[in-house]
Amino acid sequence: MSLLEISTEDKSVKPSISFSPEAKAKFEKILTLYPPGTQAPLLPVLHLAQEEFGYLSLEVQEYVAKLMNLPVTTVHEVVSFYTLFKKEPTGKYWIQVCTNLSCNLRGCEKIVDYISRKLGIQVGQTTPDKKFTLTTVECLCACEMAPMMQINEDYYGYLTEARVDEILDNLR
Ligand code: FES
Repeated sequence: MSLLEISTEDKSVKPSISFSPEAKAKFEKILTLYPPGTQAPLLPVLHLAQEEFGYLSLEVQEYVAKLMNLPVTTVHEVVSFYTLFKKEPTGKYWIQVCTNLSCNLRGCEKIVDYISRKLGIQVGQTTPDKKFTLTTVECLCACEMAPMMQINEDYYGYLTEARVDEILDNLR
């Protein structure tokens, strides 16, 4: 489904997904923390949706837009701006290697290439066993640890090929 289709969709059609009762309770709680009727809670709600559904598909973005009474395009703009929001399903471990200036000066390209060869996948791909997805991202604000990467919620810095081996072998 294209963005155009979902932005002009029939409002009477119910999305086929919905929050679990637990997630719905968290959603209601988030709303109490922000001024009513604004889009201020959108970021935490998107985090919640990603936690609940695994990634933010167009269907999930449409669901969040309806819940918050926002245009789908507003939700899509936020989701597409932040690399921390997943637009596609990923493997169990989502590897994001920073390729911005500090990490670049400290050899991140070699690290990306090494991980790619080690896992047998290109940037943007997931291993056949659905364990690892490799992506590159802009600065993760940990330049002092360059070259560095994020795997799910954890940061790993001062990367060398030996350190990559140690980290990834521990996750296998
Ligand atoms: S440039 Fe890599 S963390 Fe900032």
